[in-house]
Amino acid sequence: MSSAEVSGASRAQVDAGAVRRVRLASLTTLKVGGEAELWTVEDDTGLRAATGEPFYVLGAGSNLLVSDEGVPARVLRLGRAYAALDALDGRRDLWLGAATPVPGLVRRAQRLGLSGLEGLLGVPAQLGGAVVMNAGTRFGCLADTLHEVEVMLDGSLERLSAHALGLRYRHSELPAGAVVTRVRLQLTASTPARVQALMDQVDAARKGQPKVKSAGCAFKNPPGDSAGRLIDAAGCKGLRVGDAMISPEHANFVVNLGAATTADVLALLALVQQRVDQPLELEWRRWGLPGGDAPQPGWQRTERDAV
Ligand code: FAD
Ligand code: EPU
Repeated sequence: MSSAEVSGASRAQVDAGAVRRVRLASLTTLKVGGEAELWTVEDDTGLRAATGEPFYVLGAGSNLLVSDEGVPARVLRLGRAYAALDALDGRRDLWLGAATPVPGLVRRAQRLGLSGLEGLLGVPAQLGGAVVMNAGTRFGCLADTLHEVEVMLDGSLERLSAHALGLRYRHSELPAGAVVTRVRLQLTASTPARVQALMDQVDAARKGQPKVKSAGCAFKNPPGDSAGRLIDAAGCKGLRVGDAMISPEHANFVVNLGAATTADVLALLALVQQRVDQPLELEWRRWGLPGGDAPQPGWQRTERDAV
């Protein structure tokens, strides 16, 4: 990548691979999405600098649909320093980095006999993304154990209580421009066997879900019903546009059979919405797409606007 293609990155950052152009398809679980400038941030000083200009934040990319044309802002990813699982050592009240992978965290908590995260079994998120989506299942969600978060906001680190995040079903209200850096969880003392027993129930409830490339459920469940049930009843299982298909196993999963594009996925979602006679709300976050998320405001721009 030439420095001309990079906005605001130093030659050293480009040479060290901390800033590079990537296809976001390689970083999302649905494996679709165009190019963007990826900034991998290893510490708070780097994060402060990277959030100066408008940006998107990428977690594990498991709830994302990105335009085939990519996105018109830098994409930040928290590096390994934000993913230290060593902090989970038997204490019940603990801070963890926002890039901590949720699957490993759930397994480690079970081994330590710590309860509270069982409902997140099978959610392939990073902790920060799980906060933003309040990820979970009917057996429990992140809000059950979340006490507070640390965020980088307008160039400074701040703490926000879980209460201030307005967490509800697949929803949070993080301030614009905030990046979750660390997460404080409060778990409950239990035993490995009891934690495992609840995880077995969650696992059983997930048995009907496909194991191939997807971004989990596409639509939120309407109150009192299931989007999967509605899409199935509308005869959409197996419906296909290009390599994007409504899973024959679970109708709220769009699967990528190999070479799907975001355009295929959007066309498929439109077909589903035509067949289901009530409006469904997408659960996926969308970048570079109509109705999707705008880039987060960079703090340098915010400061300039304030003058
Ligand atoms: P991403 O998809 O990368 O991002 C999601 C949003 O969070 C974006 O807006 C992003 O900007 C923001 N974000 C991410 N990290 C940060 C951060 N550090 N600071 C600020 N913003 C951030 N979800 C469930 O709730 N329950 C399930 O049972 C479930 N099952 C799934 C099964 C499969 C096979 C798959 C692929 C997905 C499933 N999901 C499920 C969806 C998904 O895993 C969750 O929504 C998850 O919380 C997304 O986390 P992520 O780290 O992948 O975030
Ligand atoms: N159903 C059908 N056909 C289908 C799919 C489901 O008839 O193709 C019916 C089932 O038979 C059941 C009902 O719909 O009676 C509910 O189905 P399921 O138990 O599979 O749960 P869901 O509501 O579809 C929710 C979450 C999942 C989570 C599971 C855990 C949403 C949108 N989905 O699915 O979360 O893993 O419960 O049990 O809230 C996600 O959010 O990405 C996700 C995967």
